[in-house]
Amino acid sequence: MSTPKSWLPIAANSPFSLANIPFGIISTTSNQDPRPAVAIGEYALDLSIFSQNEGFCASPTIQSKTAVFLQSTLNAFAASGRPFHREVRTYLQNVFTEGSPYSNLLEANKELQAKALIPLEDIKNHLPLAIGDYTDFFAGKNHAFNVGTLFRGPQNALQPNYTHLPVAYHGRASSVVVSGTPLRRPWGQILLDSTAEPKIPTFTPARRLDIELELGMFVGIGNELGEQIDINKAEEHIFGYVLMNDWSARDVQTWEYVPLGPFNAKNFGTTISPWVVLADALAPFKTTGLKNETPLQSYLQEDEQNNALDINLEIDLTTSSGNTTTISRTNSRKLLWSWPQMIAHHSVSGCNLRPGDLFGSGTISGEEPGTQGSLLEQIQGGKVAIKLNGGEERKFLQDGDTITIRGWSGEEGGLVGFGDAVGVILPAVERV
Ligand SMILES: *[C@@H]1O[C@H](CO)[C@@H](O)[C@H](O)[C@H]1NC(C)=O
Ligand SMILES: *[C@@H]1O[C@H](CO)[C@@H](O)[C@H](O)[C@H]1NC(C)=O
Repeated sequence: MSTPKSWLPIAANSPFSLANIPFGIISTTSNQDPRPAVAIGEYALDLSIFSQNEGFCASPTIQSKTAVFLQSTLNAFAASGRPFHREVRTYLQNVFTEGSPYSNLLEANKELQAKALIPLEDIKNHLPLAIGDYTDFFAGKNHAFNVGTLFRGPQNALQPNYTHLPVAYHGRASSVVVSGTPLRRPWGQILLDSTAEPKIPTFTPARRLDIELELGMFVGIGNELGEQIDINKAEEHIFGYVLMNDWSARDVQTWEYVPLGPFNAKNFGTTISPWVVLADALAPFKTTGLKNETPLQSYLQEDEQNNALDINLEIDLTTSSGNTTTISRTNSRKLLWSWPQMIAHHSVSGCNLRPGDLFGSGTISGEEPGTQGSLLEQIQGGKVAIKLNGGEERKFLQDGDTITIRGWSGEEGGLVGFGDAVGVILPAVERV
């Protein structure tokens, strides 16, 4: 890919190449106010400082809307729509391109560089958007099939409705946390012996704590209550993407989830990566997803056939002794439903989406061993253990385990990466 060169030294393996320009919310020890920034190479460009020092003066459109860069969240920027996101990203790419006519804005302005370009190691990331609502889909067909097989056998693994509609549950927005936030092992009701009658649960910290590798999508422009979003215009409602770990307590889930779906099994925490990769940055990586043979209702039929994203995904497990093992490698192509289909279905009832709403894709799993996005699938429901570097084994997570999710598109020199989604499991709270 012909990515132009930057005057700022950017390592070939940096996830934040000139082709990316992801947006986040940062603070520093010297200025603890959360504020918007973009990541580039080893740096964050503080957009509040850049915009207040006439950084956007070469574009009257952007200059007239710089208030969106003086907020503590990206909601106002997300709500400004795809054409504006595209304009800001292209402008910032020009600012960092070697020999561009914008070189006076930052390259030649050492004083502004010193104020606005902050080494990534000196920043703290915050949640990029205030999340009003969080909806978690189940679009990973291989995951749905694998888990369905564990519970119902391969013949009945996928429910008849699975290929007709992208099913989801309404998740909990308050416990979505930014990468680096530790999570407590949750307490819950667990049925220790499923064969005993009568069925009496035990109240205990979860023992079958799992992960779910997902892609997250932030809504930009929303819709009015009562209006439907047309599937062929749904792309215009996408702000960008993050990596997501939908932590899951499987033993709590088994006892509670019929008939209304997951509740406490998933509401204790969801980790997202800190930088939102704009839909435009991922547009070159659109590809075909898993084929759906089922004839679809008209509101779910898209003109665009390449609506899956080619994003490489990996999961690392690091034990408390410091040994790291990559336990899964997969790709976000492994989804049956596209983001426009999820948007169209979510709003077909007239449900209103709002800027900053978060969608999860559902767990992404490939077909082969070592490509599954949850431990439950990797251990075949508990039959086998995962062998870790250093000699330990795992079925479910232990206290002190750290999970790191990585994701990137493209090739070295022009990588479009996310920054990791990391979380460590702390022991359950003590009860007296
Ligand atoms: C899907 O279909 C199955 C089988 O007909 C049914 O048991 C289940 O309740 C349906 N699920 C949803 C989410 O509608
Ligand atoms: C990894 O495991 C080995 C073998 O148990 C151990 O000696 C070592 O200290 C562990 N930690 C690291 C960082 O390698």
